[in-house]
Parts: sequence; C-alpha cells; structure tokens
Amino acid sequence: MIRKNIILVGFMGCGKSTIGRGLSAGLKYEFLDTDIKIQNDMGMSISSIFQEYSESYFRKLERNLCKMVALNAPMIVATGGGIIKEVTNIDTLKIGGVIIYLKNTAQKIYKNIKYDTSRPLLNVENKEAKIKELLEQRIPLYEKCADITVDVSELKIDESINLIINIINNLEKNENEKSQNN
Ligand code: S3P
Repeated sequence: MIRKNIILVGFMGCGKSTIGRGLSAGLKYEFLDTDIKIQNDMGMSISSIFQEYSESYFRKLERNLCKMVALNAPMIVATGGGIIKEVTNIDTLKIGGVIIYLKNTAQKIYKNIKYDTSRPLLNVENKEAKIKELLEQRIPLYEKCADITVDVSELKIDESINLIINIINNLEKNENEKSQNN
C-alpha cells in the first residue's frame, strides 16, 4: 500500500465522489469526501452554508479540512471542485499526497448535473454557460496542481476506477523499487 493520500480534484460533476468511493472499495483505503464531511460537521447542506454564512466561510472550512487531510494519510479524498482556488490548499494537500485531476468536458459535466440543485454556484438560469465560464477559469488551476491527469470524458465509471487503480499500483511499485535501491 502506498502511504500517501490520493487526492481527486476536478470540476463539479466530473465523477470525483463516485470514482473515489470505487477506489476506496478496490484499494481498501479509507475514503473522505470533503463536501460530505463539511456538511456532516456543520449539520447543514452546502447550499445552506453558502446562504446562511457565505462562500468565503465555506472556503475557510475547506481550508481547515485540507490541513486535517494532510495529517491523516493514507486516504482517498474526493474534494470539492473549488478547492483549487486557494493555492495554500494545494500546497497542504501535496504534503504526503498525490493529486489526480479528473478531466472532463463541459458537455459531459452538464449532462451529469443538469438536474442537480445542490450546487449553489450552478443555481443560475443558464447552467451550461456557467459551467463553461467556470471551467475556463479553473482548467489552468487543475492542470497546474495535478501530479497525474486522467481524462475520464470517454470512460465509464468502472473503467475510470480500474484505470486509476492501475496507476496507483504502478506508483506503489515504483516507490517500492526506489526504496529498495536506496
Ligand atoms: C464547488 C463544488 C462543490 C461544492 C461547492 C462548491 C465549486 O463540490 O464544494 O458547491 O466551487 O466548484 P463538487 O465538486 O463535489 O460538486
């Protein structure tokens, strides 16, 4: 077992939580979904946190959670799509963690979440346009922080999970070889 956190980043609706749960089951790693943890800790939905507190309060909760994650490797971690907006989060998550960017297209993302109402940033009249706008801003951030990029746009969930399990197993093999040579 690789002793690092596997951190999944990517845009809303790209499959982080579903793929993360599959990886956790397949690799027997603990699983943490940052959105679910924040909702459980606060006893309220993300939308209510945004509404009753603010987005910046939610970002503060995310920031604190990143620190907790860094101290508790190894886990599979599905992050909220905006976690990459704070550079310090990336620095924190990289401590003992490998960042995997799940790349998906605006079209597929829209298809996945067009009926979803739980994401406050997408509760707008033209959801498709908002996805494109935010995606354009964020792609450079996802690309910059990624140790590994996996294009999941043409893959079924099971295929993505199996591909990432192989990637992690190879990482582990390389690390073992490295430590044997030292
Ligand atoms: C957000 C993504 C959401 C959630 C919140 C903000 C974002 O998580 O953290 O609504 O800024 O992209 P998912 O990526 O799991 O939808």
